[in-house]
Amino acid sequence: MSQSPNKWHQETIESQKSKMEKTVPISPLPSDIATLTLPNGKTIQLPVYKGTKGPPMIDITQLQSKTGYFTLDPGFSSTGACISTMTYIDGDKGELLYRGYPIETLAKYSSYIEVCYLFIYGHLPSQKELSLFEETMVSEMMINEKLIEFYKGFATDSHPMAIMVGVVGALSAFMHKDFDVNDPRDREQIAIKLVAKMPTLAAYAYRTALGLPIIYPNKKYSFIENFLYMMFSTPMNDFNVDKVIVKALDTIFMLHADHEQNASTSTVRIAGSSLANPFACIAAGITALWGPYHGGANEAVLNMLKEIGNKENIPKYLQKAKSKDNCFRLMGFGHRVYKNYDPRAKVMQEMCYSVLEKTQRANDILESQLAILLEQAALKDDYFIQRKLYPNVDFYTGIVYEALSIPTSMFTVMFAVQRSIGWICQWMEMMSEKVQRISRPRQLYVGEDQREYIPIQDRKEEEKSRVCKLPMHSSLFGLVKV
Ligand SMILES: CC(C)(COP(=O)(O)OP(=O)(O)OC[C@H]1O[C@@H](n2cnc3c(N)ncnc32)[C@H](O)[C@@H]1OP(=O)(O)O)[C@@H](O)C(=O)NCCC(=O)NCCS
Repeated sequence: MSQSPNKWHQETIESQKSKMEKTVPISPLPSDIATLTLPNGKTIQLPVYKGTKGPPMIDITQLQSKTGYFTLDPGFSSTGACISTMTYIDGDKGELLYRGYPIETLAKYSSYIEVCYLFIYGHLPSQKELSLFEETMVSEMMINEKLIEFYKGFATDSHPMAIMVGVVGALSAFMHKDFDVNDPRDREQIAIKLVAKMPTLAAYAYRTALGLPIIYPNKKYSFIENFLYMMFSTPMNDFNVDKVIVKALDTIFMLHADHEQNASTSTVRIAGSSLANPFACIAAGITALWGPYHGGANEAVLNMLKEIGNKENIPKYLQKAKSKDNCFRLMGFGHRVYKNYDPRAKVMQEMCYSVLEKTQRANDILESQLAILLEQAALKDDYFIQRKLYPNVDFYTGIVYEALSIPTSMFTVMFAVQRSIGWICQWMEMMSEKVQRISRPRQLYVGEDQREYIPIQDRKEEEKSRVCKLPMHSSLFGLVKV
């Protein structure tokens, strides 16, 4: 990067270099051979790899070239797409490790900044390393003043996630010439800049939506305190830091920091595999996170609890979630990987009590009671038992956010801020590999076979035209129901 290196880089350039090299994943040697017999009677031997933990994996990279067959796995239920050293999930045990450390231990004794350091450098920092790292992170929280202009261009009722997609993507316009994605030191700086700027971008999205003046980060506050400061302070009053709230938020940040190859992380890796600008790749990850089956679930849970309203309605909504006649699901329940209680949900549930005890807001207490009753009812229900559907991290997150005065539309933005460290370190990990290949899945084509082109004058009219007719000027006013 062309800018002069900051204090962190001056002091650590050599000492960290060798440690960072340990974060580069090394392909293990095959531990076994699998023999596959194909419908044409041909057999092929495929190498099997065993990681430090987790099920063995059959390497099928040679399958097509040796047999002419591809594999089909929509939704990637059985497919691994990378080799990683970052995060491990045992879905049956309900276990989550960040670089080998259990999430419960980190949540209890560590901090988000420490977890960021752990992901970037592969090891936990000493006190000196941590202090210097946090100082650097805080000093990188400011954003280019011109970027603030972007916020003024959004419609006043814009969803903050829409704003985040735009402004994070726009970071690539400010940072594109002065780094080399193939240089590990540049990648490290990209990671620090991204993670440091995310809370600022999020707080500005919130404040501009409300028409509130923007608050700049301040070096006298910690990273997490700065986020609260930029979200909730006013230029007219002193800002009081509440330690219970800061600890709660710090823990939520840690719980969401990474979660191996989920939809948004895979999106970042796929976008990054084309060597696209890393900030643009993160914007792609934000779009994947937005949906209610992924990061948008925290917002959907709270809306669902409000809709259920009281405990008498629980059976009706459970029935609705079980019925296949509608697309309603019990939000905050179920997970592709966890077939047991999500360990993050346990930490979240405990934290929910401590935050509610502190804030004492009657509505939040009622919502948490409703959530507990809903969870208890679902966990006793055969439908949820048979499908191993347990509460995931998002089941209680929304209640805690609401108690912290974070508005519902900001919930998924919070997730994006917290997950930025996971996304960018997964990107760094991918970029550090010696052999990089563009991501390019295959498909089973079931469309038309090759057919004859008919000139337009010879084509028959469809019985009903499929082109919808839009009123004049509809292009200015969004979607029109026709
Ligand atoms: C997370 C999620 C997308 C995982 O999906 P998945 O691994 O693809 O699982 P499937 O969609 O194949 O679901 C398996 C079965 O459980 C059911 N199911 C899954 N989650 C359910 C839920 N929350 N409520 C009701 N039924 C659910 C499905 O309908 C399906 O039933 P079937 O076998 O009778 O068809 C899914 O559980 C879900 O939509 N949960 C709610 C959203 C949420 O909380 N997301 C946050 C994840 S951290």
